[in-house]
Amino acid sequence: MSGGVIVAGVLAPHPPHLVYAENPPQNEPQAECGWETLRWGYERLRDQLAGIEHDVLVIMSPHWQTYIGTHLLGLERFNSLSVDPVFPNLFRYTYDLEVDVELSRMIHDAGADDGLSMRMMENADFRVDYGTITSCHLTNPAWDKPIVALSSNRSRHYYSVDVMQEMMGQLGEATRRAITKSGKRAVLLSSNSLSHRHFVSEGEIPEDMSNEHITNHSQHLWDMRIIEMLRKGQTRQFVDLMPEFTEQSMAETDAGALTWMLSALGFPDYPATLHGYGTVIGTGNAIVAWDTSDDGREIEGRRGGDAR
Ligand SMILES: [Fe+2]
Repeated sequence: MSGGVIVAGVLAPHPPHLVYAENPPQNEPQAECGWETLRWGYERLRDQLAGIEHDVLVIMSPHWQTYIGTHLLGLERFNSLSVDPVFPNLFRYTYDLEVDVELSRMIHDAGADDGLSMRMMENADFRVDYGTITSCHLTNPAWDKPIVALSSNRSRHYYSVDVMQEMMGQLGEATRRAITKSGKRAVLLSSNSLSHRHFVSEGEIPEDMSNEHITNHSQHLWDMRIIEMLRKGQTRQFVDLMPEFTEQSMAETDAGALTWMLSALGFPDYPATLHGYGTVIGTGNAIVAWDTSDDGREIEGRRGGDAR
């Protein structure tokens, strides 16, 4: 099979607070309200994706951390209770998710062909990380499409930021090749916040929005600068600036997910859609989508006549 295509890429941050505030049946704690500007942003994203035909969500999360290579979920179903280790009071979520194992294996094989260290996670008792669950829930609360989940290879911490950038760029290309070969229409999710210095204490009512604001002004300046670059299609410049941004604002881009996704998208030079920005315990979060039908260029993997 061939002719698969990446139809969209999304920066889809995963604060568990957003799921908590939404009160889905899968999550045990109950909230009164909270973080509406971001939750409305996710609603706009869902509306946009409803108009873009797709078969599968392919996600990389910073909270599945692996030091030897990239791992992928390798069984058809994973189900369990996910408890956020830092916020067990907000996130105790019962999940039952379906994996597109065929595509997962194809990405595994494409990465391995390029010399990357790749491994399938086939332990049925493996607990899926809360970042994957949260971003997938917020993007598609119906859970009616299978996912492919990739771990975050912590090459920035084990080696350096330059090694991480290079490896994630390569993994993005392998991901695109595998999707092309699969014949499927995929939406990619980079599950991460932007600036990531956060508060270290919690108010009596977690959803009391009078306590919510950016941790400091320099983080706000960084987030606005990055968002403007993404909105203008300056993704290559952003990736070049990313090490400095990550260092100065403790950004969650250190996980490599955004570099991986932008590489898979061929480093878009067309504008992205900003669906929302807001802070969660002082961190900066943007929901940003690239609809690849906005791309006027011919890139590998794009269908001819019926490309979106
Ligand atoms: Fe996180």
